[in-house]
Amino acid sequence: MIAAGGSEREMRDPTKRVFIKTYGCQMNVYDSARMAELLAPLGYARTQAAEDADLVILNTCHIREKAAEKVFSELGQLRHLKTRRERQGARTLIAVAGCVAQAEGAEILARAPYVDFVFGPQAYHHLPEMVTRAAQERRPLIDTGFHAKFDTLPEARSAAGVSAFLTVQEGCDKFCTFCVVPYTRGAEYSRPVAAILAEARALVGGGAREITLLGQNVNAYHGHGLDGREWRLADLVRALADIEGLARIRYTTSHPRDVDEALVAAHRDMPKLMPFLHLPVQSGSDRVLRAMNRRYKAAEYRQVVARLREARPDLALSTDLIVGFPGESEEDFRATLDLVAEIGFAQAFSFKYSPRPGTPAAAAPHQVADEIKAERLRRLQTMLSRQQRAFNAACVGRTLPVLLEKPGRHPGQLVGRSPFLQSVHLDAGAARIGDIVPALISAAGANSLAGRLAA
Ligand code: 5AD
Ligand code: SF4
Repeated sequence: MIAAGGSEREMRDPTKRVFIKTYGCQMNVYDSARMAELLAPLGYARTQAAEDADLVILNTCHIREKAAEKVFSELGQLRHLKTRRERQGARTLIAVAGCVAQAEGAEILARAPYVDFVFGPQAYHHLPEMVTRAAQERRPLIDTGFHAKFDTLPEARSAAGVSAFLTVQEGCDKFCTFCVVPYTRGAEYSRPVAAILAEARALVGGGAREITLLGQNVNAYHGHGLDGREWRLADLVRALADIEGLARIRYTTSHPRDVDEALVAAHRDMPKLMPFLHLPVQSGSDRVLRAMNRRYKAAEYRQVVARLREARPDLALSTDLIVGFPGESEEDFRATLDLVAEIGFAQAFSFKYSPRPGTPAAAAPHQVADEIKAERLRRLQTMLSRQQRAFNAACVGRTLPVLLEKPGRHPGQLVGRSPFLQSVHLDAGAARIGDIVPALISAAGANSLAGRLAA
């Protein structure tokens, strides 16, 4: 039966479409997937095209100014889309989620009054109600409270693909002086072990071979364990390693201060824990690290890396770096270059410092001029990309175990990941997706490897 008053497309197709655009970190990727699951019972299927969506959700990032500005320019485009579809008798609901919504919810509604609702990263378990209310009420809604999201999310997750994300920890109490996360994601919270293991088993039952544990500060994890004790991240990794069918475990993002001995030991003892670690250092200068409130000195970062490398000699490292933090001198910046040269990163993300409203560093004196930031970023990135290329080039001629994840760009090609998180392209049939195959690496680029199935 066709409901009265439905638009022409609804008459042909009762399914509604939701387009979710994800900005920023992997936690947002995870949240977007969960939002899609929450909307499925309401008849929403995910679409890759905003043009024919009944609901558009921008899941936003507030970490740097550029990321936040992108949201407002995207909203400008969506406004035209909404008007166009209205002329065709269809309604598009527009929602803004994520950290920009949390930090600037009211401003979004003021600057973009055609937005139907705004909700923060802690409130998306209310999404079904919000969609229903927004469709009826025709006045903007806002939900940016901090709630116990994980207590009310439905449990089973089964369609996350070969490599799945699983949020185990959220929020942060570290208050680095440049960072908005403690304000947008709230206080540190660890999910109970039983809920995490249940979700992991559901993911593996649905075909996941690799799980990446997510948290803003994932190695600060301290959840309620199965034995009544408090479990740290290493305990969790050990329990996950017992899940049959799960081949690879990763975790991100870590804080150098929270790398404990048990975690180092897990890297030594647990073959399922992949030899790749994202460990943000931010700066190589003690003066800057102190001003950033990072709570470690450069020498301590070096020691943590040395302990990890002793435990797992093939461990590849990735990092985050900020240049032009307020008060950073040329000498401070050189200390960063020295640290990078010494450690050698397989991969890295580097940024110009971007003042974020409400954070202490934004109000600090001695802000660095943009030309200087740009010049330092160029010098740093030259070094980092040389390191990344060298790391990739060193893989040529080696046979690496590659987890095949999805079809590649060319017919007959698949893309997978090496243990070191490099993308590897090779020719294989689609039936091999989900397999871990030996791949002889034949070529290396800046961002990926090419290879072939080894005998
Ligand atoms: N300016 C520049 N980079 C930032 N990051 C976080 N806040 C800022 C900021 N205000 C970077 C850090 C962090 C990564 C996720 O983003 O390097 O580790
Ligand atoms: Fe932000 Fe990470 Fe520092 Fe927490 S530890 S305040 S998330 S940079």
